[in-house]
Amino acid sequence: MSAPPIEPLLFIIFGGTGDLARRKLIPALWRLLVHDGLADRVAVLGVGTRERTDIEFREMARVSLLDSGADPEDADAWCATRLHYQVVGDGPESYGILADRITELEQHHALGGNRAFYLALPPSVLEPTLAGMGRAGLGDGPGWTRLVIEKPFGRDLASARRLNDLVHACVDESEAYRIDHYLGKETVRNLLVFRFANALFERTWNRDHIESVEITVAETIGVGGRERYYDETGVVRDMIQNHLTQLLTLVAMEPPVEMGHDAIRSEKVKVLRSVVPPVPDDVVYGQYTAGFVGHEVHGYTDLPGIPVNSTTSTFAAVRLNIENWRWQGVPFFLRAGKRLPERSSRILVRYRQPPVCLFHADCPGHENLLVLTLQPDEGFDLYFDVKVPGDELLITEVPLSVRYGDFADGITDAYQTLLRDVMEGDQTLFVRSDEVEEAWRIYAHILDTDAVDLYPAGTWGPPAANRLVEVSGNVWSEVGLETELLDRHPTDA
Ligand code: BG6
Repeated sequence: MSAPPIEPLLFIIFGGTGDLARRKLIPALWRLLVHDGLADRVAVLGVGTRERTDIEFREMARVSLLDSGADPEDADAWCATRLHYQVVGDGPESYGILADRITELEQHHALGGNRAFYLALPPSVLEPTLAGMGRAGLGDGPGWTRLVIEKPFGRDLASARRLNDLVHACVDESEAYRIDHYLGKETVRNLLVFRFANALFERTWNRDHIESVEITVAETIGVGGRERYYDETGVVRDMIQNHLTQLLTLVAMEPPVEMGHDAIRSEKVKVLRSVVPPVPDDVVYGQYTAGFVGHEVHGYTDLPGIPVNSTTSTFAAVRLNIENWRWQGVPFFLRAGKRLPERSSRILVRYRQPPVCLFHADCPGHENLLVLTLQPDEGFDLYFDVKVPGDELLITEVPLSVRYGDFADGITDAYQTLLRDVMEGDQTLFVRSDEVEEAWRIYAHILDTDAVDLYPAGTWGPPAANRLVEVSGNVWSEVGLETELLDRHPTDA
């Protein structure tokens, strides 16, 4: 299916001088527009509270582009002709001035009035910005309007509902694009293809064959540079309610009736509605102390701006149950943390053992494991038992492995994919209003805690996290599964 063409538009970034715009959005726009020869169809307007001239904004963008490897001459030409900046103050007249600037740029570049607004803003200013946009009628341009909103979308169910109301006062739901950048990752987009294009897996993708599912997003980075945001947020709001929960929906959903955005998102919502909200007993929270992650690092509460008695969690492990026909009785273990030993996002599907062991009295008892590695070293591995060649009947476990690097020339950046979808008007990879509310509903009882266990940076979180999986007779897998596989085959080493 070929993608619809990108129509001319003005791309307006609120938070235009912020970290996300500099690190991700401007380089992604550049790759999307300049590499694909679309530069003359799109002009960019950065909007922010900082006083900047167009020239200063272009210089900031140019530095970001050079950092991301752009050719200096191409970068200069693009910035000088396509990038603009507008300051917005607190006063109500600010949005009127912005509306005039938008109209002026649309005429100057002959864009025809299509507008994409990207709100890359801290939670505290999201509500007033949406209200200001609504009052100034920014969404009522002569062409189409699309409103892109970065996470976090609220901090609980009530605030998410309030934000949804404000969004709907500005635009229709069909024009709202709530970002979860994990959905733009190539390996995450592959999940539906992996499941629904291969009859092999779908036949076994249920409680009869699968014992448990583990979703891990491990990071080596800490929270340095985002202390204020992070201390008010914690890992459940920052990662689990959104990125890991989105992964869960893609693993657990039923086949959609078609590949349309509403068909897929409706199936995801059905999964969320079937998740039993976890209670504190289903969670282990952690907070990192000083340690070693390739180099010595400070503990969380040693960071400037973090109160010494902060109980914000930088790690959480959660056990979830999905009460539906497909998944009843199959635990889903979610785990995310900062300052863990390695960066790795992956989904591990643990199959049940065969009902009867034919080979030894002490059967090796390896369940088949399917490991979908989302990043880095993208790919998947299916572990299964084979006979060791020789007279004796010995069994060992080997992986059948595929790496993206073996068949693809590089992986498109998630933001580039998502920005293209916004420009094309495809909402499939964006979170619908009911979806975001259901995701907050699930975590209502476990968003905050005073009970954090400490873990040294560079370890796999507090050992207490084991109690969640042990009840199911499981262990957490470690990155590359080395630890677990070594435990299984101590003599193979
Ligand atoms: C962001 C979180 O949404 O995702 C960050 O706010 C986190 O805390 C980041 O580091 C992880 O994204 P990625 O793409 O690096 O796995």
